[in-house]
Amino acid sequence: MTELRVAHTADLSPADLTAVRELLDAAFDGDFSDEDWDHTLGGVHALAWSGDVLVGHAAVVQRRFLYQGRALRTGYVEGVAVDAGHRRLGIGALVMAPVERVIRAAYDLGALSSSEIGVPFYEGRGWQQWQGQTHALTPEGLERTEDDDDGVYVLPVTTTDLTASLTCDWRNGDVW
Ligand SMILES: CC(C)(COP(=O)(O)OP(=O)(O)OC[C@H]1O[C@@H](n2cnc3c(N)ncnc32)[C@H](O)[C@@H]1OP(=O)(O)O)[C@@H](O)C(=O)NCCC(=O)NCCS
Repeated sequence: MTELRVAHTADLSPADLTAVRELLDAAFDGDFSDEDWDHTLGGVHALAWSGDVLVGHAAVVQRRFLYQGRALRTGYVEGVAVDAGHRRLGIGALVMAPVERVIRAAYDLGALSSSEIGVPFYEGRGWQQWQGQTHALTPEGLERTEDDDDGVYVLPVTTTDLTASLTCDWRNGDVW
């Protein structure tokens, strides 16, 4: 049986955090950096446990995105992964549901950068590919992030024109 736990980073133990990091390192095949880990912390986590083994995780953190002259309170999804031996069993859906509830109840917009395998998964849950140009507000000013255009997916909460320009705030590592 899979047990779901939802908690802020502040309420996860060092052992919980180690289990999350190990799951993410394995699921992304060594392509999960310390900066990616930093992006995963500071918000609300959903953890799926099979006994004492962590089999699924997703997190949502707050960011500010510029959209049509406004700074949208954005729930950005990070660290979505299911253990390779437990996929296509609904565990991804199990951990995304509370994250999407948080987004719908507390943010203007949900957003994430999808991996290839994530596209059918997120689209099946109502996430939509951003159609307009993407940018980042860097310490040097506004920068176009065209390589990220195709990978940005959103879960609109308020009315959102997906063909407009969307600008993410600055952070270390991958900005999207
Ligand atoms: C993406 C991921 C989290 C999905 O987790 P999961 O537990 O397998 O997902 P679910 O079982 O809840 O799938 C729900 C639905 O999403 C779709 N889906 C999930 N994985 C899919 C895949 N590989 N190909 C096509 N559709 C897929 C299906 O419609 C599926 O329903 P179905 O199994 O009844 O057909 C998992 O594949 C994973 O950890 N991948 C590696 C890390 C990663 O890329 N994470 C996303 C980062 S943005």
